[in-house]
Amino acid sequence: MGNRTVRELKPNIYFIGAIDWDRKLFDELIPLPDGTSYNAYLIKGGEKIALMDTVDPTKTDVLIGNLVKAGVEKIDYVVAHHAEQDHSGAIPDILLLYPDAKVVAAARCREMLIDLLNISEDKFITVDDGRTLSLGDKTLQFVHTPWVHWPETMCSYLQEDKILFPCDFFGSHLAASGLFVDNEALVYEAAKRYYAEIMMPFRTAIQKNLEKVKQLDIEMIAPSHGPVYDKPDFIMSAYKDWVSDAVKNEVVLPYISMHDSTGKMVEHFVDALIERGITVRQFNLAVTDIGELAMSLVDAATIVLGSPTVLAGPHPKVAYAAILANALRPKTKFASIIGSYGWGGKMVEQLKGFIPNLKVEILSPVIAKGCPKDDDFTALEKLADEILARHRRLGIAD
Ligand code: FEO
Repeated sequence: MGNRTVRELKPNIYFIGAIDWDRKLFDELIPLPDGTSYNAYLIKGGEKIALMDTVDPTKTDVLIGNLVKAGVEKIDYVVAHHAEQDHSGAIPDILLLYPDAKVVAAARCREMLIDLLNISEDKFITVDDGRTLSLGDKTLQFVHTPWVHWPETMCSYLQEDKILFPCDFFGSHLAASGLFVDNEALVYEAAKRYYAEIMMPFRTAIQKNLEKVKQLDIEMIAPSHGPVYDKPDFIMSAYKDWVSDAVKNEVVLPYISMHDSTGKMVEHFVDALIERGITVRQFNLAVTDIGELAMSLVDAATIVLGSPTVLAGPHPKVAYAAILANALRPKTKFASIIGSYGWGGKMVEQLKGFIPNLKVEILSPVIAKGCPKDDDFTALEKLADEILARHRRLGIAD
């Protein structure tokens, strides 16, 4: 089920993918508050026809319906930029329908497609970085861009039309009826969420790939999720900011409180940070959308975890937030832990052990026995002072 949405980007270049308004979770992990789309594109060259990626297997019927609607009787090339199934999953069905089609992919992507989808080896044309493929009056140039999002990823650049097809790179999980970005603020939020959840762990690789694609003369970016950028400067400059080494005068504070001891500490600590001119993003992990938490980690200089002690360790929801932050590898510079305990435990040691990937300086934890007392509030003020001093040293706080 799905919309039949064949729309023209430029003459003989069409969006032919699927909008998924109802999907609310990706990888059974990532919330999709705005749905998503799986963007496949059709390029009709003077001699050859290329399909740029396919769709998630749940939307194969939509892709095939669109191909029928567009009257596509032959496909010469299926360009596979990325082996993940939300783009490659319909390739086997496309090869059944168009048995003469060849799958064009980087060598590593070819291996992965064979592993993941059992596509036969003779179906492939492998392309090196920089190679071109003529469709007649249109020329595809392949640009290898590993780690946006897996190691095999590449982009295509359609030279005559100056369109970049970067697959996940620059994408956004956003179901929208418009073909092009028509609300930059809305797309900025969705693209930043997408960057935080999908791309941030590969930030340094993305820095290099951003420089690489910037060498091309790009008039349009047609990603594999979300609207097409007909003014690409907007998303290119957002990525430049997100992947930069600079952090902002911000503290991210994910926490849980069961009987309000940690809650009182969080309240006091947040007030102390605000008084010092530091931006705070506070997340009650009992109800928070982890995508919002991930987005806040894109820029923040400091993360502070707040947890009670449960069965001698951190609350499991705080442990989960720590493991998630560790996996996302934000550029955060400082970390600390605040919280409470009843009779003992190893909450601080365990939380520290969950974040080895964060290249952070750990600042003095503040842990209260039972409900927080004057000494604990004083220690929280000192921690706020420590954070301000560190931020000032980086030149990001007044
Ligand atoms: Fe949209 Fe990495 O797949």
